Amino acid sequence: MARVFVLNGVNLGTLGTRRPEVYGTMTLADIERLVGKEFPDVDLEFRQTDFEGEMVGFIREAAGSEGLVVNAGAWTHYAYALHDALESVDVPKVEVHISNVHRREGWRRVSVISPAVDAVIAGMGVRGYVAAVRHVLETLHGPIQR
Ligand code: DQA
Repeated sequence: MARVFVLNGVNLGTLGTRRPEVYGTMTLADIERLVGKEFPDVDLEFRQTDFEGEMVGFIREAAGSEGLVVNAGAWTHYAYALHDALESVDVPKVEVHISNVHRREGWRRVSVISPAVDAVIAGMGVRGYVAAVRHVLETLHGPIQR
């Protein structure tokens, strides 16, 4: 069974109540269920942490998997350690943002992790997670037929 890591960083554990006008009302557990339903044959390692060092550990763990999806939250914009951790892991990697970071504050337009991933999704809401996992799987196995 394919194993894909879906890694969520700082403050994403508060989805559901945090700025619903920006991030919607789904909790992280709801998103995990949504992605799980889309890909029942995939072993999803769905994680969240508010500790940067723990996130580095998760990224390293993903080295043995089919790929990873990462929403690094605000770390996206300044955490060079996450860039370096991602750079060192040779699997398909997709950066996801629920909101369109380019339509928000100027500092959110900068991502220090984007150069270390293969693709970036922003502004698709929680469906961005589904698209990201699909991209990982299709990178490895070609188009998924439905
Ligand atoms: C976010 C966007 C970031 O700027 C913000 O700090 C987050 C969430 C998103 O999913 O839209 O925590 O990554």
